[in-house]
Amino acid sequence: MSNMKKNYQMKVDVLLGLQWGDEGKGKVVDVLTPRYDVITRFQGGPNAGHTLEFNNIKHVLHTIPSGIFRGDKINIIGNGVVIDPSIFKKEIQSLKNIGFDLTKTLYISKKAHLILPTHRLLDAASESAKGDSKIGSTLKGIGPTYRDKIGREGLRVGDILHNFEEKYRARVDQHIELLTKFYNFDYKQALQDYEKQWFEGIEVIKQFQLVDSEHFINDLLLAGKSVIAEGAQGTMLDIDFGSYPFVTSSNTIAAGACTGLGIAPGKIGKVYGIFKAYCTRVGSGPFPTELLNETGDTLRRIGNEFGSTTGRPRRCGWLDLVALRYAIMINGVTDLIMMKADVMDQFETIKICTSYFIEGELTRNFPNEIDDGVIPVYEELAGWKTDLTAVDAISKFPEALNRYILFIEEFLQVPITIVSVGPNRSQTIER
Ligand code: GDP
Ligand code: IMO
Ligand code: MG
Repeated sequence: MSNMKKNYQMKVDVLLGLQWGDEGKGKVVDVLTPRYDVITRFQGGPNAGHTLEFNNIKHVLHTIPSGIFRGDKINIIGNGVVIDPSIFKKEIQSLKNIGFDLTKTLYISKKAHLILPTHRLLDAASESAKGDSKIGSTLKGIGPTYRDKIGREGLRVGDILHNFEEKYRARVDQHIELLTKFYNFDYKQALQDYEKQWFEGIEVIKQFQLVDSEHFINDLLLAGKSVIAEGAQGTMLDIDFGSYPFVTSSNTIAAGACTGLGIAPGKIGKVYGIFKAYCTRVGSGPFPTELLNETGDTLRRIGNEFGSTTGRPRRCGWLDLVALRYAIMINGVTDLIMMKADVMDQFETIKICTSYFIEGELTRNFPNEIDDGVIPVYEELAGWKTDLTAVDAISKFPEALNRYILFIEEFLQVPITIVSVGPNRSQTIER
């Protein structure tokens, strides 16, 4: 009986972005990994770009969980993830080049869906057909792949093991019909260029341990192993709760960890919610606190706000507590993590959005529709005017930073347990 109780105590902690992605998830997963036995990804695909920095190495991961630099942990790509074999192969190769061989430590779910070369082309065709109303997708084929998954026409990693060529051809032929007849899209050269590396990627995937990951993860929990699930994108890009249609095509929220890994809701433990001390967004869609001025440019320059996957400049703005409060509600966040505080080191004053003014009324509730009629209302706090990148203990935090943190905690009613003051692994302070 006592043993039974112990087993049931093992939970999956989830770490996810509370804004529009790029909050710094990769860095924090790497920092927290020593506390866990297992690190998993549960949704998204190579639209993600998760950056880690340590010992003068800067690395951007797209498909692979961010725990891989910490010795022989178990890393799992869960069923909710979509994998582009060609990008996967490149990732594996570049890790090998710096001395990390993952064939023994990385497991891949047989139920994870494959991004086919034609999914990428369909993404490009669909975006170009949308013209001015395009989503600003990363063009990695994410939308079309999840569309095929939900439409029950996708190909999964497990399909690689039986009659794969045949299944592949049938899907690609149908995609080509769509590309030519519906989109009038010239696909031939691009497909030819991509297919070869894509099939090489399939061979690379075969070298890994392909598993029934739902059994694998639940068995690990039963064996007393601790698990952290690494989200991709952010809550405001969630397919249900983000600013639809300017969202990604998966559930980026805590509930996505259940469906993306095959774990029961009661098995979710802590939910770490990550946010930047300000806001960014890449791609189209509403962004109430966006700064289309010099301050926005300063945040972009100092924060080096250029996409890790596409290199596109990120749109920048003040911290939005209305949106953050909504994200905390949807995810059941237990611990907040504030990133990139150092980016505002030299600001005289810092604004925080605490409500929206909509049709003559003030509200703290995140509305269903965001348009030009939503006017952010700000409080202004003093800046700390201190170089935080060299600060190594909470006792050395300047008073103005403490006030900024307390203001956010009081508004959101969730503790900020980690503050990040630079991109390096070591520039992370626990409270
Ligand atoms: P992710 O997608 O959530 O993993 O985030 P990205 O890696 O796309 O973007 C975060 C960027 O901020 C990366 O370039 C990180 O190296 C960098 N970064 C992370 N934490 C900090 C921090 O505390 N301060 C600064 N200046 N940069 C940070
Ligand atoms: P990480 O995990 C920031 C954005 C795209 C676009 C929208 C849809 O690094 O935080 P998609 O390619 O998914 O169809 O694009 O979502 N987007 C991201 N923005 N960080 C990401 O991932 C993103 N993944 C997708 O810019 O607006
Ligand atoms: Mg990113």
